[in-house]
Amino acid sequence: MEKNRRKEIEKRRTFAIISHPDAGKTTLTEKFLLYGGAINLAGSVKGKATARHAVSDWMEIEKERGISVTSSVLQFNYQGYCINILDTPGHQDFSEDTYRTLMAADSAVMVIDGSKGVEAQTRKLFKVCVMRHIPIFTFINKMDRDANDTFDLLDEIEKELGIATCPVNWPIGSGKNFKGVYDRNRKKIMTFADTLKGTKEGVEKDINVDDPALAEEIGEDYKAALLEEIELLDGASAEFDMELVSKGELSPVFFGSALTNFGVETFLQHFLQMTSAPLPRKSDLGEIDPCSEDFSAFVFKIQANMNKAHRDRIAFMRICSGKFEGGMEVTHIQGGKKIRLSQPQQMMAQERKIIEEAYAGDIIGVFDPGIFSIGDTITNSGTKFAFEGIPTFAPEHFARVRQMDTMKRKQFVKGITQIAQEGAIQIFQEYHTGMEEIIVGVVGELQFDVLKYRLKNEYNVEIRLEKLPYEHIRWIENKEIDMEKLTGTSDMKKIQDLKGNPLLLFVNAWSVGMTLDRNEGLALSEFGRN
Ligand code: G4P
Repeated sequence: MEKNRRKEIEKRRTFAIISHPDAGKTTLTEKFLLYGGAINLAGSVKGKATARHAVSDWMEIEKERGISVTSSVLQFNYQGYCINILDTPGHQDFSEDTYRTLMAADSAVMVIDGSKGVEAQTRKLFKVCVMRHIPIFTFINKMDRDANDTFDLLDEIEKELGIATCPVNWPIGSGKNFKGVYDRNRKKIMTFADTLKGTKEGVEKDINVDDPALAEEIGEDYKAALLEEIELLDGASAEFDMELVSKGELSPVFFGSALTNFGVETFLQHFLQMTSAPLPRKSDLGEIDPCSEDFSAFVFKIQANMNKAHRDRIAFMRICSGKFEGGMEVTHIQGGKKIRLSQPQQMMAQERKIIEEAYAGDIIGVFDPGIFSIGDTITNSGTKFAFEGIPTFAPEHFARVRQMDTMKRKQFVKGITQIAQEGAIQIFQEYHTGMEEIIVGVVGELQFDVLKYRLKNEYNVEIRLEKLPYEHIRWIENKEIDMEKLTGTSDMKKIQDLKGNPLLLFVNAWSVGMTLDRNEGLALSEFGRN
């Protein structure tokens, strides 16, 4: 029994894919699934208007706008590994869910468009990976299109994201002149063959760097340039150090083309070797061993009304230790109650299926009768413990909520509180004035529409949102600070969260710095704690 459990857990790899929209995250995921045999035709994961919606067709907004607001989880087997991919919404109106998904992953794959370099959304998501010190692997995509200079791309990642890079392979040319990649470890060149968008099997050749046939294959000029670059690279780039990779301080970099399926399998194989099985997670009783006998998990996402007919809520949990079995009785630590997890399900490409068992590293979605909150711990252990909470991520858009029909105050408060509890929005109040004035903060602006829509459809309450100019929110780290005496800039606003914790809102980043300067000892944070 124990041996089997350990074996199952050790073959798990759970990672998130992050990228700016259009960098090729979906295409790369499709190719991964193809290798795992989870789908037999690349292209059936997405199809912007169709397949993805089968997974998360829970809200009209998604249909209307043709985007996926929610994240999904995909599981497949490949070469003895059981892989869980946590997909994150690709639209720029992404929400806190995107950030939270990273809390459930053990590592991250960062997809970068070779012609664009580091883009806004990558930067944001990257911050969370760094905060968690999880390994980050970089896949520089679209090499079949004209790409930026390779050294410049690496430089940009190092400077913009503050992480050292170590290219595992090196591209030879790009766009029409993309010849392939040089594998630094094997000292071989893998030549690129256009697979016509992955529809045709390409013949990739493996050529030694000192093989005279190389010049013939890629051309004399490209060979000369490559040799020069290799020399430069060996002298300049960070040495590969597995320990730094596992702490998230060094990112192994791969080049390829997801669309033509070039470099994808090599990447997957290296990635699987370089990442670890689920690692122990911190709790208030110390670290919890993933292979321990007791089952434990934490809630990282709550999704409401996935099924319109039933108005259900699904709580997504990351299993941190042991084995989950259908119908098992567990303790919900924060609720202080024993419960049975009902209708446990797992996302599998386009389908949801009821599962009977799952192991540490896996993600399960369970029916939530309205008892779970983000960060809650569930376990069947006799000893009570709680996993470290999930940070609250800084909203970037704020609006004052006006209720159209003041008679419906009760429904309004209930609705907005429940939606906030699910973590779709954050609610604040004016400092010291209570519930009268409510300020909503969201990570992506689309959440405002989601809020309006849901209040109207689920709680029959109409609201008007007055956008506020603030873009930066800071939690006050040192509780001893006297809020009354705090002097900020004229654009600063003092607010509080529902627990009464004081926070500050600013219109621009400059004001944050100014306020720090003006108040000695003040410590501000971009992440809140719940
Ligand atoms: P995302 O999930 O990160 O948003 O990106 P997605 O995979 O949807 O890719 C965005 C666009 O880039 C798609 O084209 C896709 O076909 C293309 N693409 C992805 N990888 C590569 C690559 O390696 N090389 C080239 N040349 N293109 C690539 P689209 O026309 O916007 O979408 P679609 O209608 O083809 O799905």
